[in-house]
Amino acid sequence: MKAAGRPVIGFGAGEPDFPTPDYIVEAAIEAARNPRFHKYTPAGGLPELKQAIAEKTARDSGYTVDAAQVLVTNGGKQAVYEAFATMLDPGDEVLVIAPYWTTYPEAIKLAGGVQVDVVTDETTGYLASVEQLEAARTERTKVLLFVSPSNPTGAVYSRGEVEAIGRWAAEHGLWVVTDEIYEHLVYGGAEFTSIATAVPELGDQVVILNGVAKTYAMTGWRVGWMIGPKDVVKAATNLQSHATSNVSNVAQAAALAAVSGDLSAVATMREAFDRRRQTIVRLLNEIPGVLCPEPLGAFYAYPSVKGLLGKELRGRRPQTSVELAEVVLEEAEVAVVPGEAFGTPGYFRLSYALGDDDLVEGVSRLAKLLAEAM
Ligand SMILES: Cc1ncc(COP(=O)(O)O)c(C=O)c1O
Repeated sequence: MKAAGRPVIGFGAGEPDFPTPDYIVEAAIEAARNPRFHKYTPAGGLPELKQAIAEKTARDSGYTVDAAQVLVTNGGKQAVYEAFATMLDPGDEVLVIAPYWTTYPEAIKLAGGVQVDVVTDETTGYLASVEQLEAARTERTKVLLFVSPSNPTGAVYSRGEVEAIGRWAAEHGLWVVTDEIYEHLVYGGAEFTSIATAVPELGDQVVILNGVAKTYAMTGWRVGWMIGPKDVVKAATNLQSHATSNVSNVAQAAALAAVSGDLSAVATMREAFDRRRQTIVRLLNEIPGVLCPEPLGAFYAYPSVKGLLGKELRGRRPQTSVELAEVVLEEAEVAVVPGEAFGTPGYFRLSYALGDDDLVEGVSRLAKLLAEAM
């Protein structure tokens, strides 16, 4: 529609709207001129980057690891894929808290694993309880996937909740795969808690997934990592050495500048996101039929639109959030991602990583259209 010249406002993007900070780009330019980086480097990552990631993890998560426990991957996405490929045998069950990010089910499936959903909703702010997790546990449960802050809901678990869930996992001998990619994007007094540090009882049954994409506005550079026990990391490194070899050296040099630098750039982005977050939540909750709990992390709002389904809107009667999203796109020229993509129909995901004016204009168009629903 945009290509046809229509003024669509997109709330779909899962990436910051800021450019990568200059000092990071400069490090990449310098690396591109260095003949060392014109050659293959170790498949598991540049040694100096692995060391810097170990140090950054101690700084931000309070978790002590050595460089041999780090694997540098082609974005967080490859870390997700390789973690499950390495850890799962066919039939192993993974507890996945829904709504979940769309890549997890595919990575689990490709590894022969079986996803078991633990469904949450707006009444708990999309937080799962130990009771819910326990009800989903079976003899085949091997892994709990834990993501806080969450994509798509922006939910952030408190330290107490993280401890309770981690202790429960440890008690039952489960592995925890934890995706910490939104660790620095928390708001309104919420705090990021790494389950790896908060629950020492988990021992070495923890695998951390992370990357530079969201913290440093570096989605296009494709650098992420996995941290885990040495045998898991070694197996994943073997897999990567045959699949893709080392991540682009220029991108790794940029990531090195990012993780070994300070966090001032993300502080600036966080301020902008927080302002947009408050605006979008307020505007969404003013729309009759829309209910949006306050997201405390990442850059997504995840309102329920169940109150609008089955109502008449511009001559149509959308029954699902996919159908409602279609009407919204066609009639209001606003793009949102329907909840079906995240395992929970009846919701929209709106990224607020877009300019303030577009954000207000987009939600206003949405509000105007949805007010017509009867
Ligand atoms: C929860 C979560 N984990 C991991 C990633 C992967 O990011 P990337 O592969 O760009 O590093 C994303 C990207 O959207 C995400 O939302």
